[in-house]
Amino acid sequence: MKILVTAGPTREAIDPVRFISNRSSGKMGYAIAAAAAHRGHEVTLVSGPVSLQPAANMNVVNVVTADQMRLAVRRHIRWCDALVMSAAVADWRPAATAVKKIKKRNRRALSLKLVPTVDILRDVRALKGRRIYVGFAAETGAPEKDARRKRKEKGLDLIVANNVSRQDSGFETDTNRVILLSADGAREAWPLMTKARVGVRLVRWIEQQMLVRLKKVHDKR
Ligand code: CTP
Repeated sequence: MKILVTAGPTREAIDPVRFISNRSSGKMGYAIAAAAAHRGHEVTLVSGPVSLQPAANMNVVNVVTADQMRLAVRRHIRWCDALVMSAAVADWRPAATAVKKIKKRNRRALSLKLVPTVDILRDVRALKGRRIYVGFAAETGAPEKDARRKRKEKGLDLIVANNVSRQDSGFETDTNRVILLSADGAREAWPLMTKARVGVRLVRWIEQQMLVRLKKVHDKR
């Protein structure tokens, strides 16, 4: 299979030295990409700025902003059978980026006007066809309720919900505790495990889903 994975945060520039971003380390996305490549899939990894080293057996596209990530996903999705959006895309960007460093000027308060970035999953929804789309839901409240809504709104086959306010899951950690909610109504709560392990199991889920689809197509003939 050809699998497109996004990972890490995006950065939205305020001026040449400052940006808005988030705490994503990219570990979950890199683990998924590594697991998929290890299983022999052709992997394209669209990565925001992270301090991780991608494995050699994949095609890496480095991006910085949400819009660059959107364009990279749009460019590569047509060649892929599955998309895993594990990137923590910035939801807002400064309305304008200053060309020169903004000066303190006697420590006056500074107001920033932020405008929403494009939602990548919504942007590529029309390109889905038979592809498998997997999203993540980073929540600090009730992960399941919001994740269920996001899965529907974004037209995903699967959403992986994780509570990012816990010490042992979410941002920067090496472990994760996730709940999988799929389009057929199934719910799986996985115990705490390493992100590497979550990656392997998610790739297996995608493979399984693809088999079911191929079987359906075959049975129709
Ligand atoms: N996502 C995306 N484009 C964005 C923001 C998020 O494609 N501009 C994707 C993420 O990669 C993830 C899913 O949408 O797979 C859910 O992201 P999340 O941050 O949990 O939710 P949001 O849709 O941003 O909603 P909110 O911030 O209100 O929780």
